[in-house]
Amino acid sequence: MKPATHNDAFWLPFTAQRQFQQQPMLFTAAQGMHYTTDDGRQVLDAMAGLWCCNAGHGQPRITEAIREAAGRMDFVSSFKMSHPAAFTLAERIAAIAPEGMDHVFFTNSGSEAVDTSLKIARAYHQARGDARRTLLVGRAKGYHGMGFGGLSVSGLGRHKRDFGPLLPDTAHLPLPYDADARFSHGQPATDAQYANALEQLFVVHDPATIAAVIVEPVTGSGGVYPPPVGYLQRLRELCTQHGILLIFDEVITGFARVGAPFAAQAFGVTPDLICCAKGMTNGAVPMGGVIVGNTVYDAFMQGTSSVIELFHGYTYSAHPLACAAGLATLDVHEELELAARVQAIAPVWEAALHGLRDAPHVADVRNIGLLGAVDLASRPGAAGARGNAVHTACFEAGVLVRNSGDTLVLSPPLVISAAQIGEIVDSIRTALLATA
Ligand SMILES: Cc1ncc(COP(=O)(O)O)c(C=O)c1O
Repeated sequence: MKPATHNDAFWLPFTAQRQFQQQPMLFTAAQGMHYTTDDGRQVLDAMAGLWCCNAGHGQPRITEAIREAAGRMDFVSSFKMSHPAAFTLAERIAAIAPEGMDHVFFTNSGSEAVDTSLKIARAYHQARGDARRTLLVGRAKGYHGMGFGGLSVSGLGRHKRDFGPLLPDTAHLPLPYDADARFSHGQPATDAQYANALEQLFVVHDPATIAAVIVEPVTGSGGVYPPPVGYLQRLRELCTQHGILLIFDEVITGFARVGAPFAAQAFGVTPDLICCAKGMTNGAVPMGGVIVGNTVYDAFMQGTSSVIELFHGYTYSAHPLACAAGLATLDVHEELELAARVQAIAPVWEAALHGLRDAPHVADVRNIGLLGAVDLASRPGAAGARGNAVHTACFEAGVLVRNSGDTLVLSPPLVISAAQIGEIVDSIRTALLATA
């Protein structure tokens, strides 16, 4: 038998499976800002796991809450019953959400949160007697998870290529970015044409047929693109004007990543629905959710009260272990004042990342909150090769960065120090200097 540490029984997600067999990357422990590899090396985590361990790894309060919950009640369904912690968690999330968003539907992942939000959007219009509104509008480079709904509104062609046909009733906005915006610090300057692209879409699709527009306030996995100043405001205006729901996918930006509980508050724009996951439990137990605005929720709470209002849910919605982790995560956020911490350290992050502008192969640098991206020029005929090489060199030097093709994406735990920011940037610079 092959060693149990890495066999091909485990088919890894989003991984070159056969290459992984040759060069497995295995971790055995995590604490604070670091992972421990299976050969005992400490690696600085510049990705907060996968955009999720916002408060750093192994927060004792979260670990203890999970342990305690598991020992008390392993599982209870939330179909026609539930448990007290689910209500407390929903109330506490609503308390940090934008005003007027007082309800939470729990899921187990970001993908489920997105699909749930799309279904709520269509069902909302149905509930109001406006069944024509079915079109779902996404945006170029948007990543909304891997369910068929999220994939249909996704703006990443390669992700969709092998799985069609997807939902027929979708359309897409362009990415609000062009070469003039390269090396912008934080949000690029306004360019009204981008949000007005929604108006152009109205020429092709009557706005009275559109159910919802879904965007990540900051495009995340697609390469960390902050919204131009005023862009989200304009989207909000147009959606309101035409009775279209606006959904923010905050699976990455939620839970303090951009210096406020949600990006909605950081950018001063309130959507109708917010998808969240990842940082919700600090990555410690799978959980996601949709935060629902009161107008949307109230539209469902009409008619006969004994009838189920939303025929939707998951066996593990509001799982007791996830709720315990979620509550402890909120405690840790309060205790460590993580949103304020991000605001304080974001200028250090911005300056350090933009210091890479003159390093070899760097084509663009983007940042907002504690998110960052470094675009590298591709090697001729070998897209992604340079990004892979930098990722490997950084890992060997003790820093875990993520590359999406030739874009390095960065999202460290929010407890990162200025010295650790320096360590990440130095390792990238060294890797670039050594990489052809
Ligand atoms: C913006 C966004 N939405 C949805 C998802 C999907 O989340 P999950 O992988 O938990 O299903 C992700 C995952 O990275 C994401 O970044």
